[in-house]
Amino acid sequence: MKNIVILISGSGSNMAAIVQTAKAEQWAKRLGAHICAVISNRPDAAGLALAQSLGIATSVVDHAAFAAEPQPREAFDAALMATIDRHQPHLVVLAGFMRILTPGFVAHYNGRLINIHPSLLPAFTGLRTHERALEAGCKFAGATVHRVTQVLDHGEILAQAVVPVLASDTADSLAERVLAQEHVMYPRVVAQLLRQTI
Ligand code: GRF
Repeated sequence: MKNIVILISGSGSNMAAIVQTAKAEQWAKRLGAHICAVISNRPDAAGLALAQSLGIATSVVDHAAFAAEPQPREAFDAALMATIDRHQPHLVVLAGFMRILTPGFVAHYNGRLINIHPSLLPAFTGLRTHERALEAGCKFAGATVHRVTQVLDHGEILAQAVVPVLASDTADSLAERVLAQEHVMYPRVVAQLLRQTI
């Protein structure tokens, strides 16, 4: 069985799209894949209850609990890796996971770690992507699924979804249009990777 672990920090709508598509498309039967856990770095992430309502086991590795460690980022990532590795994942899917990962973490999951970013990379890495696309006068915006490397929001581009920017758009309305496409694209990319040897 190809185990999938999904990491979230917030609402978890991409996670839910992947879980619901996996059920609808019978990934367990057709692709030999199983979404075994959703892990959040925030105990208050709304996506945790959503995952439970979808029948997926959840765990929390709270990054705030590592603040007093001499190397808080490394200590958090080590605890996160231990939690993830209990599931022996074939694929680790970052879905709105708002943490910068250490080089050791990225190297550990080399080739098995993917992310979705709400811009057409390589434009607008980092935060406030929709505001910045509007400020720049972009006529198109979108989202990118990419492999995770040690450079933030870089790595091989696996898929992109493009939406028009409307004259009436606010950052929120643009985000909503992009997110709807993320929900279509991300499950497709995961299924495609499961069909391949990663
Ligand atoms: C998405 O826009 C994703 O591209 C970005 O964070 C947002 C997460 O949304 N990385 P959700 O938690 O999947 O609803």
